[in-house]
Amino acid sequence: MRIILCGFGIVGQSLVKLLDSRAEDLYAKYGIKPRIVGVFDSGGSATDPSGLDREKLIYVKKKTKSVKDYSKSKNKASGLEIIQNVDADVLIEATTSNYKDAEPGMAHIINAMKRGMHVISVNKGPLALAFPSLMELATYNHVLLRFSGTVGGGTPILNYAKNSLQGERITSFAGILNGTTNYILTNMANGMSFDVALKDAKSKGYVEADESLDLDGLDAAAKLVILANWVMDMKVTLPDIQCTGIRKVDFEDIKKAAKKNCAVKLVASCNKDLIVSPREISLDDPLCVNGTLNAIAFTSEHSGTQTIIGRGAGGMETASSILRDLLDIRKEISRS
Ligand code: HSE
Repeated sequence: MRIILCGFGIVGQSLVKLLDSRAEDLYAKYGIKPRIVGVFDSGGSATDPSGLDREKLIYVKKKTKSVKDYSKSKNKASGLEIIQNVDADVLIEATTSNYKDAEPGMAHIINAMKRGMHVISVNKGPLALAFPSLMELATYNHVLLRFSGTVGGGTPILNYAKNSLQGERITSFAGILNGTTNYILTNMANGMSFDVALKDAKSKGYVEADESLDLDGLDAAAKLVILANWVMDMKVTLPDIQCTGIRKVDFEDIKKAAKKNCAVKLVASCNKDLIVSPREISLDDPLCVNGTLNAIAFTSEHSGTQTIIGRGAGGMETASSILRDLLDIRKEISRS
């Protein structure tokens, strides 16, 4: 399987390490030999049709901060040039999410699909802004679009709803889908001020480079869009979400909730409407998880409510979701 990897940050590097450590096992168990034939970051690119040396990629990135130094010629080709000129089976889109125009990820995905590549995106931007049309484009070009890592990181939330609950009709769901705000609200419930809790979350590397994506609920809203489309077959995008972040949550709200045996959490829900907002949840509800954990409760017609809890972010966790998608694509291709 020839792969083009867009973006070589923590997730991209974790994926390369994961593929390296699992190489023998992947071949023995699934008969696949994933080869990275192209990778690019903001500094440049590296390509090799027979597969880039994974250890060297990691080494070069660590030493010089860009994969362009992989070869002596210092490949300056842009992402789009790589996608146009390098032949591959799968494109993995792992550049930063952007909810204004979703670029550059949107152009990477569209061009790869037009060239007949299957796509795995852990970038939420393009899906949040154009889920229905990207799905149509995938169908039109006879390629698969997968995105397990966009919701719940390594926790297989999308797979659970789509596959484990196959045949059921999910009537509603509600989840804590943003680890950063959950960490801040958990600390506030333990007496920390919002500012100190935010600073603490930043020092631990949890907060997005643009903190507004976490604090104003955009990250959770993007995940809600993906869930609503994939699980509920809705055709919605980011503007369809009613979104309120956690900036206005204060000690009074938290104290009021505590008196009722509740905690304030940033909840993303799909009932009649699609809403992200701070809400009180009973401390006895399995959904009421703390720290950076994510949780989601699906309610379906005949099987009641089930709650899945897990870590919603992290390099290796997200890389494992990409591997899951790769294996899924492999399975689908060999069926057809
Ligand atoms: N900023 C996100 C979070 C990262 O805190 O959950 C994972 O999408």
